[in-house]
Amino acid sequence: MNILVTGGAGFIGSNHVRYLLRNSDDRVVNLDLLTYAGNLENLAGCEDDPRYRFVRGDIRDRELLRTLLRQEAIDSVVHFAAESHVDRSVEGPEVFITTNVLGTEILLEEARAAGVQRFVMVSTDEVYGSLGSEGRFTESSPLAPNSPYAASKASADLLCRAFFKTFGFPVVVTRCSNNYGPYQFPEKLIPLMIANALEGKPLPVYGDGLQVRDWLYVEDHCRAVDLALRRGRPGAVYNVGGGNEMRNLDLVRLLLDRLERSHDLIKFVADRPGHDRRYAIDAAYIGAEMGWAPTVDFATGLARTVDWYLAQRPWWEKIRSGAYTAYYDQMYGPAGRHAGDARVQ
Ligand code: NAD
Ligand code: DAU
Repeated sequence: MNILVTGGAGFIGSNHVRYLLRNSDDRVVNLDLLTYAGNLENLAGCEDDPRYRFVRGDIRDRELLRTLLRQEAIDSVVHFAAESHVDRSVEGPEVFITTNVLGTEILLEEARAAGVQRFVMVSTDEVYGSLGSEGRFTESSPLAPNSPYAASKASADLLCRAFFKTFGFPVVVTRCSNNYGPYQFPEKLIPLMIANALEGKPLPVYGDGLQVRDWLYVEDHCRAVDLALRRGRPGAVYNVGGGNEMRNLDLVRLLLDRLERSHDLIKFVADRPGHDRRYAIDAAYIGAEMGWAPTVDFATGLARTVDWYLAQRPWWEKIRSGAYTAYYDQMYGPAGRHAGDARVQ
């Protein structure tokens, strides 16, 4: 196959490019705009593989897509490219609409026009909104997104459905829970907490810290996406999850223990507006249809992840020394959105 991976310089995309080069004979073309979240260092070594090509470009650029899809005889698309951080979508929703919604629509149109045979849309469990203390999301749970990010992903996800229903375009959608692992941008919970702990900075826990996420090691997600590409039923939606629910506060404490740092570093800060309380995924369908199940248990995955961030300190220090500083102040500085103690009303 000639696979176009969009967003392949980001966290999951770069892990996916590596996964494909390691586990298949396919050719991989990586189209990525290199926004703040895209980083070619995530792909170090891949450029030596003759089956790999990187193209810097925008999924909203029709001309580029038209040329690239034909020039590379692309028959399959795996679509990761997106604005992916919920907190940024609270600060500025617009780019989430142009990239995630319009970008997906343009990509679908051009892929269809170019005769692409298989298109995987990497959606998210956040399209379902928030759970109470009981139950798990199934593929037929109603879509009830709560953040601009989640709403933009739900729109893109539904556009895929529409392209299947209206045009018979063979789209497969995956909706995965929270990923963790190497190359995750240090604005996200786990790498942010590791980096802050190592630098002796406060660890900002939103609200009461009792929100629950279902964590999945990134390579298990990549395997699910790849199965969806090769064996997924056109028009189907597959939930993907770790079966591993954890409260944020417990996770942060676990990280501090592993890093041998004091729990006193934890700082409760103002909550995220519209903060989803709990996610939990029922991944029975992808298990029954394609035999997928997580293979990396949380203790192993977390240890691997912590070790990676310890060994790759220059990778995240470089990121945190640049434009990231302004973002951090805007979020966590004295006048930032998450300033103040959440428990003091
Ligand atoms: P990320 O922010 O690390 O990477 C996104 C990548 O997309 C970056 O390399 C960026 O440069 C690129 N990009 C952004 N706008 C682009 C554009 N207009 N054209 C081309 N490239 C562009 O994100 P991630 O965490 O790796 O997530 C990847 C995908 O998986 C997203 O679609 C996200 O919604 C989805 N997802 C993520 C998780 C998670 O836990 N991180 C879970 C489920 C689903
Ligand atoms: O569920 C899948 C989603 O997981 C993906 O679609 C998103 O792209 C991805 O970013 C992730 O979204 P979350 O909002 O769940 O991830 P984040 O790492 O931002 O936050 C995880 C939890 O930790 C959430 O409850 C908010 C909390 N949090 C986060 C940060 C950055 C804190 O308490 N403090 C923080 O500083």
